[in-house]
Amino acid sequence: MNVLLVGSGGREHALAWKLARAPGLSGLHAAPGNPGIAQLGDCHPVRAEDGEALLGLARSLDVDLGVVGPEAPLVAGVADVLRRNGVQVFGPGRAAAAIEGSKSFAKDVMTAAGVPTAEALAVGRAPCVVKVDGLAAGKGVFVCETAEQLDEGLRAAALFPGPIVIEELLSGDEVSVFALADGRTVVPLAPAQDFKRIGEGDTGPNTGGMGSYSPVPGFGAEKVAELVDQVHRPVVEELARRGTPFVGVLFAGLMLTESGPKVLEFNARFGDPETQSILPRLEGDFLGALAAAAGGELAGVELAASDDAAVTVVLATGGYPESSDTGSTIEGIDAAEASGALVFHAGTALYGDRLVTNGGRILGVTGTGATIGAARERAYRGAELIRFDGVRYRGDIALTASG
Ligand code: AMP
Ligand code: GLY
Repeated sequence: MNVLLVGSGGREHALAWKLARAPGLSGLHAAPGNPGIAQLGDCHPVRAEDGEALLGLARSLDVDLGVVGPEAPLVAGVADVLRRNGVQVFGPGRAAAAIEGSKSFAKDVMTAAGVPTAEALAVGRAPCVVKVDGLAAGKGVFVCETAEQLDEGLRAAALFPGPIVIEELLSGDEVSVFALADGRTVVPLAPAQDFKRIGEGDTGPNTGGMGSYSPVPGFGAEKVAELVDQVHRPVVEELARRGTPFVGVLFAGLMLTESGPKVLEFNARFGDPETQSILPRLEGDFLGALAAAAGGELAGVELAASDDAAVTVVLATGGYPESSDTGSTIEGIDAAEASGALVFHAGTALYGDRLVTNGGRILGVTGTGATIGAARERAYRGAELIRFDGVRYRGDIALTASG
């Protein structure tokens, strides 16, 4: 099978890494890809959001399956353009991707489907959470425990275009639960935990994600299946009922509250950096499952996870999430890989033959092992070997889970 992968982040490098191992793969192409993906397949200089250009590329390469990684192209309708023109795509069309692109649409679908979520509030009074309605790369949510934080949150949210939504503040452990969907059938994947805050001890502003691990202790396959029945399946059914079937991966960000799991958000794609911890554990025919989802044939497909654990540490620039960095030389990736870690490129570029920084989150370093502790050690051993100007990472990824 000849695959075109759309996107250029760490998640896409992890997808490419997994797809490159699939026996059924005959060609791997990426648009635009990144220097890590370029080691596994052919990268093409086409923007991820340019549906028409991607269609032209897919046709010229005679692609069998398009896999769209990030949210922006999905919300922009890239999957629709490809699908309408006869290219099989793993990834929802614009209407179904609104489950991520619009917090108010997601609330509406959850209410209709009877899915437990935080209650929407008509007015903001601390404690509460202020959310930007549209896409904000994980940076449009402001948790306001005090009136001062609410002032700040409202001010910060006002800097984004579009409306805001306000909801009750929930507390509990968070977990990311993923299920493949073909429009009707859902297939659960292993869960992961993400570390959203920039600072150790979950302090500071939210980011795209600073690390992840899988599995999640106390949240085994049975619980995941139960949760997918309670959350993902009714949403997929509701979207089908509305005539906008969801084909791709539905990602629920959940809080495990005292009164049961509640949805914080839906995403219409794989998580980043959750994918970097989930895919190294995934067993079975991943490419076959993506193709089955794209073709409406997921019934009977199962994807198991190995007993191993995986931990991913994100290496970001000094100014992230406020600013990014370009052009600083990155060294030590070979040594990190030689130490047994997987290194996924997120924000890198090649300047001549020099690998340089090109973004906020630069690399993900993933360790695997028999326990979360062993995986964690391997991830940090790898991370310590990598150097670039201003490199920063959290030292506490998966720390409590490995105890
Ligand atoms: P979201 O992008 O909606 O997942 O929000 C990002 C992060 O903000 C979540 O991972 C939570 O840590 C936090 N968050 C979002 N909604 C709530 C809520 N209703 N109560 C408490 N924390 C929340
Ligand atoms: N890591 C959270 C996300 O991908 O949205």
